[in-house]
Amino acid sequence: MRAVVMDRLGGSDVLRLSEVEKPMPGPGEVLIRVHCAGVNPADWKCRQGWLSGFLTYRFPFILGFDLAGTVAGSGEGVTGFAEGAAVFAQSDVGAGKWGAYAEYVCVSRESVVPMPDNLDFAQAAAVPTPALAAWAGLFEDGGLQAGHKVLVHGGAGAVGTFAIQFARIAGAHVAATCSAGNRDYVESLGCEHSIDYRTQDIPAATRQWSPDGVDLILDCVGGASLPGSLDMLRPGGMLVSILTLAEGDPGPDHAGAAQRGLRTAVTWSKMPSGVQLGKIAALLGSGQVRPPRIETLPLEQVAKAHDLLQSGSARVKLVLQVAD
Ligand SMILES: NC(=O)c1ccc[n+]([C@@H]2O[C@H](COP(=O)([O-])OP(=O)(O)OC[C@H]3O[C@@H](n4cnc5c(N)ncnc54)[C@H](OP(=O)(O)O)[C@@H]3O)[C@@H](O)[C@H]2O)c1
Repeated sequence: MRAVVMDRLGGSDVLRLSEVEKPMPGPGEVLIRVHCAGVNPADWKCRQGWLSGFLTYRFPFILGFDLAGTVAGSGEGVTGFAEGAAVFAQSDVGAGKWGAYAEYVCVSRESVVPMPDNLDFAQAAAVPTPALAAWAGLFEDGGLQAGHKVLVHGGAGAVGTFAIQFARIAGAHVAATCSAGNRDYVESLGCEHSIDYRTQDIPAATRQWSPDGVDLILDCVGGASLPGSLDMLRPGGMLVSILTLAEGDPGPDHAGAAQRGLRTAVTWSKMPSGVQLGKIAALLGSGQVRPPRIETLPLEQVAKAHDLLQSGSARVKLVLQVAD
């Protein structure tokens, strides 16, 4: 099968289009013919070796956390996945297995979910990792409740796109940071108060919206991009940071927060993810949530996709077209 293979860690030049043997589904796995693979910031971080604390790299290695495609087979003990059915999933690449930048991939059945009818393969491939991270951050780690006020830092990115919509559906009030050109976009997702992070003082703008502070901050950017974050919380409020693995990202000030009676957490999408992705699929299928804006590139342009994402120049979510 055709796949983007890495023989070592490094820059985007280590990504090599190659022919490798088609995988066979093992017990508990579904074989999926990949139509589209989502490209995440985690992909280039994984390529650089930043995920070595989480997984064991075995070369040749195939990247790719997110995919949409059709069922092509099932391993021992797997029932209920009809051949040809459209599905989407977060791959098992986070466990060191081969990922989605390939014509075929084997994924644990617990992570494979029927694709909503109203999405095409490219839109569906843009969903799993960012949506699952937003879900975990808001609901599993952030304890978001109806009526809460939440600030989504990085509202125009893929995680932010889902976080704004999920929070709004849960009955929360949402403010979000973004650049000026994305204000209309985040407001169209349900954000009540957009803050231009390039020109505005974020804590001041947040206080203007919610003078007593907010219940929850979901930081989808990390690093030093949100100074004064604890000052924006109401007493007892919570700062949840998406695990970015960014070099020099200190994460939340857990001790400082605890001293002030505030709560902090670092969040990430959990594996297997089928239960949560199933709930997300229902929201997409009913039209309550829409996927992020996407641009599709052919698999051959995988290095370009990585370079755009790594340099911060991708304006929309990138998806690789693997099969027609
Ligand atoms: N641990 C996990 O499970 C997990 C899962 C998913 C993502 N992540 C991490 O979460 C982060 C976001 O992922 P993503 O997929 O949403 O990335 P993305 O789609 O590439 O997001 C990029 C967005 O970040 C915004 N941004 C950049 N600098 C900003 C700043 N200083 N203030 C506010 N917004 C800023 C940009 O907004 P403008 O265009 O408006 O400038 C851009 O839209 C990445 O670090 C990723 O690795 C972790």
